[in-house]
Amino acid sequence: MNIMTEKSLEDAVNAEMNRPNEPIKMRGDQVTVHYGDKQALFGVNLDVRQNQVTALIGPSGCGKSTFLRCLNRMNDTIDSARVGGKITLDNEDIYDPKIDVVELRARVGMVFQKPNPFPKSIYENVAYGPRIHGLAKNKAELDEIVEKSLQKAALWNEAKDRLNEPGTGLSGGQQQRLCIARAIAVAPEVILMDEPCSALDPIATAKVEELIDELRENYTIVIVTHSMQQAARVSQRTAMFHLGYLVEEGPTDKMFTNPDDKRTQDYITGRFG
Ligand SMILES: Nc1ncnc2c1ncn2[C@@H]1O[C@H](COP(=O)(O)OP(=O)(O)O)[C@@H](O)[C@H]1O
Ligand SMILES: [Mg+2]
Repeated sequence: MNIMTEKSLEDAVNAEMNRPNEPIKMRGDQVTVHYGDKQALFGVNLDVRQNQVTALIGPSGCGKSTFLRCLNRMNDTIDSARVGGKITLDNEDIYDPKIDVVELRARVGMVFQKPNPFPKSIYENVAYGPRIHGLAKNKAELDEIVEKSLQKAALWNEAKDRLNEPGTGLSGGQQQRLCIARAIAVAPEVILMDEPCSALDPIATAKVEELIDELRENYTIVIVTHSMQQAARVSQRTAMFHLGYLVEEGPTDKMFTNPDDKRTQDYITGRFG
């Protein structure tokens, strides 16, 4: 195959993989958040498309984590937080009183900034969720879920001979992949990641980024990142936040080359942030 053909094939595959017409998996409609008297988000409208990585960018304190936490009701755990507007998952209002929040958080999993494995074995870290959600009928099934989850999180080869050792004994990058395996183990549909690489070195970061790209085949991913390079590398859509407002949202390549809003332009060229 000559280089031209290979290039056009690659473009075609990329266009296909970017899947601009994927269904809307989650939708934020006029989302507001207050912490006590302080308003942190103002009427945010944002669609998250299935099997895509959506990056949330913007300067520190602009509301990225606040918005992310709305998507699986983690803000419920903050006493002063009040969420307004509407958020749907597969067109279903996730703030409807009939929604079981534990089940919602299994469908919409979360990976945090600092790897936070339980002080238990590698095996138990991954087995915990499936066990409490009753996903395995017996030990053999649980073993299989643990193995598959570790494989999907690209950690199996490094962990398979030390499943009974503490998760906290792994390196930082391995711990973060363990946390991703733990999220995957309960068969989520959406995975939320809040600056998942900020505590990792460049090599571990590259591994997690590569993993994120693989995961979107099977999951929908929303990632908060303060690294514009990371947003450009891993996401198909980028949403820019500023002072609690969604400034604009669009295909990642457009957002980084030809944004509509001056604030995005200023942010990506490093004028503030
Ligand atoms: N638990 C909280 N209690 C009170 N204010 C908060 C809390 N979390 C965030 N905030 C405030 O909400 C705003 C948005 O914060 P955050 O969503 O963490 O921004 P980002 O993730 O973009 O850095 C900030 O002004 C921040 O101080
Ligand atoms: Mg944050």
